[in-house]
Amino acid sequence: MAELINDEFKNDGIALFADKIKALFAQNEYSPKAYVHSFGCQQNVSDGEKIKGILNRAGYEFTDTLENADLVLYNTCAVRESAELKVLGMIGELKHLKEEKPGMVIALCGCMAQQEHIPEKIKKSYPQVDIVFGTFAVGELLEFLYRVLTQKQRVFDISEHNNTIFENYEQVRENKFKASVPIMYGCNNFCTYCIVPYVRGRERSRDPKDILAEIKLLIADGYKEIMLLGQNVNSYGKGLEKECSFSELLCMINDIDGDFKIRFMSSHPKDATKELIDTILGCEKVAKHLHLPIQSGSDDVLRRMNRQYDSRKYLEIVKYARSISPEFSFSTDIIVGFPNESDGDFEDTLKIMREVRFDNVFSFIYSRRSGTKAAEMEDIITYKQKSERMGKLLSLQREVATSNYKRFVGRTVTVLVDGLSKKGMLTGKNDEFIIVEFEADEKLIGSYVEVSITDVHNWALVGKLI
Ligand code: SAH
Ligand code: SF4
Ligand code: F3S
Repeated sequence: MAELINDEFKNDGIALFADKIKALFAQNEYSPKAYVHSFGCQQNVSDGEKIKGILNRAGYEFTDTLENADLVLYNTCAVRESAELKVLGMIGELKHLKEEKPGMVIALCGCMAQQEHIPEKIKKSYPQVDIVFGTFAVGELLEFLYRVLTQKQRVFDISEHNNTIFENYEQVRENKFKASVPIMYGCNNFCTYCIVPYVRGRERSRDPKDILAEIKLLIADGYKEIMLLGQNVNSYGKGLEKECSFSELLCMINDIDGDFKIRFMSSHPKDATKELIDTILGCEKVAKHLHLPIQSGSDDVLRRMNRQYDSRKYLEIVKYARSISPEFSFSTDIIVGFPNESDGDFEDTLKIMREVRFDNVFSFIYSRRSGTKAAEMEDIITYKQKSERMGKLLSLQREVATSNYKRFVGRTVTVLVDGLSKKGMLTGKNDEFIIVEFEADEKLIGSYVEVSITDVHNWALVGKLI
């Protein structure tokens, strides 16, 4: 298959196959329907929005019901084994549906599909799957689809092509008021536990011009929150023609006219600078919150994870932020049970949690990813020990969050209303990215409101609409 080299060529390829596919279905006056589901992080969900944009161009409409779909596409995640097992289970379940509806096309893409052993496994054990492609081949989806529709042959493509970024995709966005905007792709960090650098390639940054143009269009369309995405946003800018740091990019976005907030994730502690904190505090549209994954409080574990910072460096950033803004909000990711994590290492994690007092912690039990360095490390810690540690960590975090959140009681916070909670309350997030629940009319979904906080849960603030 041709190597696709630049934007125009890729977009031409999309246009060409979009027309061919449209013509195929037009013969029968049929409108095809696609069921597209993305797993994993927001980067992957953002890829899913591009995939939907590409399918839309080929005349596909979208359905939430598998039985109605002519194309089922799972855009997968590989970060933990559980994510992979879930997808394998779901494609296993499609076998019967495909027997009933042989014309249905099943496609698997994304990070899990990018791993070499996956196409082999699918070839052998999942004959119902027609297309497997990786994270580098999104722009070729229609070509693959056309081949399956016309030649009835299976397509497997996880080649890495080249690392150029292509712009001007049409996107079908999931949300009408919050938009994700990737500012960079890939990762160079090779944390020893992590599969991402192997499935997403090397770090490459989008040109600031393209980012600003996309955000201006989103704001003109009424979007209220822009989430900038990257595996390590604060190393943004390497390799650009004209130098631009992440802080500079934030300032340029902050200067765009309009009523909107800017968020970003994730930041890597090794690249977190005082300048970044100053920029967050100095830019009125940037939410006053930093998601800064620490992973562990033990310097020995951090070294074995290849995180390239220690607990002292992490605390330095926290102290700097809080010296200027005493309530500065941090959230984090923590891995419990890294190979041979000792009781002492785990105690160090609890200790740093008490010290930083995170507003939110996303915690995961270590999952062995084959191909990574940590997968080769000795591990004598049992799963039972790991889950006991996880229990302790969660209970400490509930305690810390409840006590942290009390600082908001009696205050008024601004909330972008997201949707309805299970109990029928309106729910949204405040500037610090903490969930806020209150009673009000559904009409408010998608707008900023002021809520007076009256009470707290260990996972949310509760209040009254003003
Ligand atoms: N680039 C981001 C994180 C991407 S993955 C960063 O560096 O912060 C999101 C989170 O998943 C990570 O922060 C880590 O806590 C967790 N994670 C990654 N690999 C994992 C593994 N093998 N087992 C368990 N958790 C993992
Ligand atoms: Fe994975 Fe580390 Fe890269 Fe984050 S920074 S994606 S944890 S390798
Ligand atoms: Fe994201 Fe999962 Fe890939 S976390 S980058 S979808 S491995």
